[in-house]
Amino acid sequence: MAEAGVRMRQNYVGGIWVDGRGGGAIEDRNPANPDDLIGLWPRSTPDDMTAAVDAAVASAPGWAGTSALTRGAILLRAAALLEARAEEVATAMTREEGKTLREARGETARGVAILRYYAGEGAQPIGEVYPSANTRTMLYTMHVPLGVVGVITPWNFPVAIPLWKIAPALVYGNTVVFKPAELTPLTATLLVQILEEAGLPAGVLNFVVGYGSEVGPTLTGDERVTGVSFTGSNRVGREIRRAVEERGSKAQLELGGKNPVVVLADADLDQAAALTVQGAMMSAGQKCTATSRAIVERVVLESFTRKVVEHVKALVVGDGADEATNVSPLVSAAQRDRVTEYFDLAREEGVRTLAGGRLLEGAAYRGGHFVQPTVYADVRPDSRLAREEIFGPVLAIIPAADASEAIKIANDVPFGLSASIFTRDIAKALRFTQDIQAGIVHVNSETAGAEPQVPFGGMKGSSSFSREQGKAATHFFTQVKTVYLDEPATSAPFPVARDPTMMEDTALK
Ligand code: UN1
Repeated sequence: MAEAGVRMRQNYVGGIWVDGRGGGAIEDRNPANPDDLIGLWPRSTPDDMTAAVDAAVASAPGWAGTSALTRGAILLRAAALLEARAEEVATAMTREEGKTLREARGETARGVAILRYYAGEGAQPIGEVYPSANTRTMLYTMHVPLGVVGVITPWNFPVAIPLWKIAPALVYGNTVVFKPAELTPLTATLLVQILEEAGLPAGVLNFVVGYGSEVGPTLTGDERVTGVSFTGSNRVGREIRRAVEERGSKAQLELGGKNPVVVLADADLDQAAALTVQGAMMSAGQKCTATSRAIVERVVLESFTRKVVEHVKALVVGDGADEATNVSPLVSAAQRDRVTEYFDLAREEGVRTLAGGRLLEGAAYRGGHFVQPTVYADVRPDSRLAREEIFGPVLAIIPAADASEAIKIANDVPFGLSASIFTRDIAKALRFTQDIQAGIVHVNSETAGAEPQVPFGGMKGSSSFSREQGKAATHFFTQVKTVYLDEPATSAPFPVARDPTMMEDTALK
């Protein structure tokens, strides 16, 4: 258990690394080998959280008054620092989250790209000039900061998701209280160190580690926090929305998915099978964008299924730090239990298992949270396996008579994050992009993945209608001020009309 010598780590509040006030600790362990204790982080209390909000409030006017060019320059320095420490960050991510090193490196590179994108935003227009009914009026909008924002992030993308919230929040002039998932505090600590070193003034970014149930309500319920951006489960998302919106502030929610690929008879089945398996099994299926349903035209069901099973059987499950590994462990024992409950359900429902369906135990797995990559056949669209987000390496194959039935099945779930179709038929692809209820639509590519310059988010139960990343982030992280700028006049006989229908009666005539 190598506990000796494991150091207690800290929160970052008002520009200072500080101990948690409650004295409690959260253990960070390696999901591939739970005996590997990575470190101890503060089990923060509501007081710690309030202190972080205090610091963010105190620094808000100064940061809002800093040039966006300067704010962008700090993010650009952070991008360079993250790039220089990429291997250290990726290794930390694999050790505490479990994903393969290859994926962790890719995510770290994405983090660098996100920082660069938002660094550039510091020099982009932040408003528009409009014509006015009064030709002497300068009429324009400005996007101004919300003030203090809370950023609450999940463990599955411990670099990309915090950065795609924190970077726009900062460049648009907000100060931030960052509450990372308690399962990935090391990666979060490295990000905060990098942003500190890049030159963020004290109090602009504050960082509190703790359990959401213990410190979350203090953040979401604080009147001074104008916006809260959250990625995670629908259950927690609902609570956050209630707490934040009840007091008149903004909540941005990115929630679950039950993402389909539709495979039509004319698809390149090799491509479709390979990318379906990649979408379903990478990160052990722990992505809100993971593929969890393959809805397949009956004429190609058998050959597509055979190819999928071949790919899945060839996957190597193991420690993400091992270069040979394709499928990493689940992040925690709780996550493993959740996935194995679905294995039990499949057995109860008598669903045909084509691959996997079991826990992986024994000496070779060192108590890590490993499960087999799993494929179920002929899953009924009304089965919980076809409707609920599992967040594990589990694919349900569902037959469909034709493209239109496939789209109907695809839409018949409470989620609408991402979706993909494999076909060579441009008309069917076009129809799919129009009829599918998803915020992100792919044609001939996997359901996961997100480039930083375009909007990201889902329809229906997958989000709160707001979009993250790219320019879309301005909608959440700023508010609009409309300015009517008129000449000073000492002797105007009438008030100047703003309503064009009133112009007849005014001095504008
Ligand atoms: C991706 O597909 O690369 O939590 C990003 C998630 C999503 C991000 C997915 N918000 O899995």
